Amino acid sequence: MNIILIGPPGAGKGTQAKHLMSKRGMVQLSTGDMLREAKTSGTEMGNLVADVMARGELVTDDIVIGLIAEKLDTLDGAGAIFDGFPRTLAQADALEALMASKGSAIDHVIEMRVDDDALVARITGRFTCAACGEVYHDTTRPPKVAEICDACGGTEFTRRADDTEDALRTRLMAYYKQTSPLLGYYYAKGRLEGVDGMAEMAAVSTQIAGILDK
Ligand code: AP5
Repeated sequence: MNIILIGPPGAGKGTQAKHLMSKRGMVQLSTGDMLREAKTSGTEMGNLVADVMARGELVTDDIVIGLIAEKLDTLDGAGAIFDGFPRTLAQADALEALMASKGSAIDHVIEMRVDDDALVARITGRFTCAACGEVYHDTTRPPKVAEICDACGGTEFTRRADDTEDALRTRLMAYYKQTSPLLGYYYAKGRLEGVDGMAEMAAVSTQIAGILDK
């Protein structure tokens, strides 16, 4: 089964993708993570996108479509969770074509609905385990033991360069201008379903499980 999680920055896409990975053995394909990895490893492409990402703008379609095409070849039959991809209509068309070329398809597109007001608090309170990428929040999801990752025992945590109020405003604008038209695109294809992303994390997971299991 292949699914897309769609929603504004801070909607909880990464949190739910990690949950699905651990519960269902699916593979998270996050273009944001792939781009951050390229940035950290100092590749030419990573250097090219660093400023764009820090401002909160979208990187070019060619780059992210190329990243996804490479990863699709490594899935080995596992279900994919597309997290943060597609983000434009061109990316959505490219994904349809890529999946069709592999005899596969997207089964569910899940919109995570969160009030804009809640996003600032979520984004500015987020931190991530440097070792395994587990996502935490200062107030809503701190590690069970302070400064020790629940998932891997790591003790180093990072905060993203684009997790500021200024960059969030640009990211939100990019979402409404470039990504939200995808809701109509997938609705018209009969594949759009929604969950209440304002609910507690476990309740959001239950709603998503209900969609995947029906
Ligand atoms: P990307 O990394 O994809 O960021 P994003 O879409 O802005 O989403 P986030 O990762 O910020 O949020 P999320 O929905 O995963 O929330 P999370 O689970 O972490 O993209 C970054 C940049 O890369 C883009 O701006 C762009 O430049 C570039 N890029 C990436 N993909 C691209 C593409 N396809 N095309 C072009 N450019 C691309 O949760 C957030 C916080 O809230 C956490 O602290 C979490 O603990 C907390 N939280 C989660 N769920 C709940 C809940 N239910 N209740 C309370 N708190 C919660």
